[in-house]
Amino acid sequence: MNSTINQIYPVIWQDDHVYLIDQTRLPEEYNQVIISRSTDMAQAIKTMIVRGAPAIGVAAAYGMYLGATEIQTSDRSQFIEHLEKVADLLRQTRPTAVNLFWAIARMLRTAYEETGTIEEIKITLLKKAQSIQAEDLATCQAIGDHGLAILPRTPEKLRILTHCNAGSLATAGYGTALGVIRSAWREQRLARVYADETRPRLQGARLTAWECVQENIPVTIITDSMAAHCMQQKMIDVVVVGADRIAGNGDTANKIGTYSLAIAAQAHQIPFYVAAPFSTIDFNLADGSQIPIEERNGREISHFNHNSICAEGAEFYNPAFDVTPANLITGLITEKGTIEPDSLIKYKIGQY
Ligand code: MRU
Repeated sequence: MNSTINQIYPVIWQDDHVYLIDQTRLPEEYNQVIISRSTDMAQAIKTMIVRGAPAIGVAAAYGMYLGATEIQTSDRSQFIEHLEKVADLLRQTRPTAVNLFWAIARMLRTAYEETGTIEEIKITLLKKAQSIQAEDLATCQAIGDHGLAILPRTPEKLRILTHCNAGSLATAGYGTALGVIRSAWREQRLARVYADETRPRLQGARLTAWECVQENIPVTIITDSMAAHCMQQKMIDVVVVGADRIAGNGDTANKIGTYSLAIAAQAHQIPFYVAAPFSTIDFNLADGSQIPIEERNGREISHFNHNSICAEGAEFYNPAFDVTPANLITGLITEKGTIEPDSLIKYKIGQY
């Protein structure tokens, strides 16, 4: 694929269908998958055609709407009962990113609150899914601006290390961690992005690097195990990552490998920021030990491009996320500003 793409929107609602960029095929192929049924949306989330916490939330919201359109009844309580089943199906796709549960809860609440006919409820649900999407885009842009304000002032332009993909592809657009990076690039404060390749699914090498290349942002891919070395060699000024779920005390679940990055950053006195919308904060959880961690198939480790690369007979352990304790996090960059993890609890509000 030679041409570059200016605006990256992983989820698009058009002509009564959802178009998802197939993130399992990037960067080799830029394809869109058309989703017309809630079961297909659940499958797309599970198989990571769409991935990244906020993008999963947006996709699930449209999944709820598609599910609503499949319900053939004029009886309100039967409609709600069926919609609860759609919600259950979507909830079972991926356990860690709280945005999924947050978006489904918002859609359900919308259905409960709309007092009109079933057709009117369906229309209101579509509007709600669209507003969840539009809000996330605006939120990411605000995160980018707030992040810009707290990035370290250095004599030279910044070298920012990031992990996984917290970019446009992982959100409604613009990105969280990559949103901060985009804003720094726009303001000419960025020298280079260092993108961890992010084993085993390579979201850094495949997706973050692809997004940077689309905008001519200089990007260097390193393997995950090179990050501490790069810090020691004074190649990194600041680390910015995304989040899948932040507990009430600031402990943060993000892609596996984030925790070791935070330890390395602290050892080298490098600021370590988490960029995430408030929809990623789960105030129901007191600390990170309560965050459910998705465990994925060992084949993601054992195989590379469909070829086995490991000793036969070995076993695999494949947690998709880890939890970085709040004390290793310099700040949480949110749409409301940058918050020290310690003071997060002040923001505890009705989140759904
Ligand atoms: O397994 P993935 O690719 O869905 O994991 C994504 C991440 O860990 C991202 O860093 C996180 O969702 C933040 S996205 C803005």
